[in-house]
Amino acid sequence: MVVVAAERVTFRYADVPVLRAVDLRVEPASVTVVTGTNGSGKSTLLHLLAGLATPDEGHIRRRAGARVALLPQRTSDIDALPLTVLDSVRIGRFTPGRLLRRLTRTDHAAVASAMEQLGIAHLARRRLRELSGGQRQRTLLAQTLVQDADVYLLDEPTAALDVRSRQRVHELLVERSRAGAAVVLASHDQAEVSLADRSLDLPAHA
Ligand SMILES: Nc1ncnc2c1ncn2[C@@H]1O[C@H](COP(=O)(O)OP(=O)(O)OP(=O)(O)O)[C@@H](O)[C@H]1O
Ligand SMILES: [Mg+2]
Repeated sequence: MVVVAAERVTFRYADVPVLRAVDLRVEPASVTVVTGTNGSGKSTLLHLLAGLATPDEGHIRRRAGARVALLPQRTSDIDALPLTVLDSVRIGRFTPGRLLRRLTRTDHAAVASAMEQLGIAHLARRRLRELSGGQRQRTLLAQTLVQDADVYLLDEPTAALDVRSRQRVHELLVERSRAGAAVVLASHDQAEVSLADRSLDLPAHA
């Protein structure tokens, strides 16, 4: 059973070839790690899996109704908004089709739990743009993990984290996969590769 898959996916930006005939099958209850040197196409592949871009050749398949949560590598646009940490995490509960509604008690509990798990509860009233890099990354991870998704696509989610926070996040991701979710990470971290049920190493030149 597959929840999302890339089949013979080829992608180029204008004339720059990035991915060539990439195959990836992502199953529920699994951790997949995508590695490769800078520029090898990890972020591009996650965008394609999330449906934010379309392959030039090949296909992206998603199980009907699968909910996908993406934590992009580059997230600076959100700093333009005067959001607090609490606001930022709450945004994760407003997924497509559930935008114009009030947050329920379940939503508030999920937000509180994610903030507790990521060690940012004490920062609730701080502005996103006033955080350290690691605090900010933990906030955006909480925003992603608070979504009830079937697939979590996380682009270098622990790159700014200290060792203990990184281990904590690894535990949370393994827990999520054991609960049935598919977790896909782009990473340069060997500790993350060892978490994986499956890994995909993208070649340096497509
Ligand atoms: N919007 C864009 N327009 C044109 N080229 C792009 C664009 N985004 C990425 N590229 C190019 O596509 C290639 C793959 O980029 P991508 O960001 O997917 O790599 P990556 O593996 O995630 O790298 P990193 O480890 O640095 O995050 C690079 O050569 C990059 O310069
Ligand atoms: Mg990248």
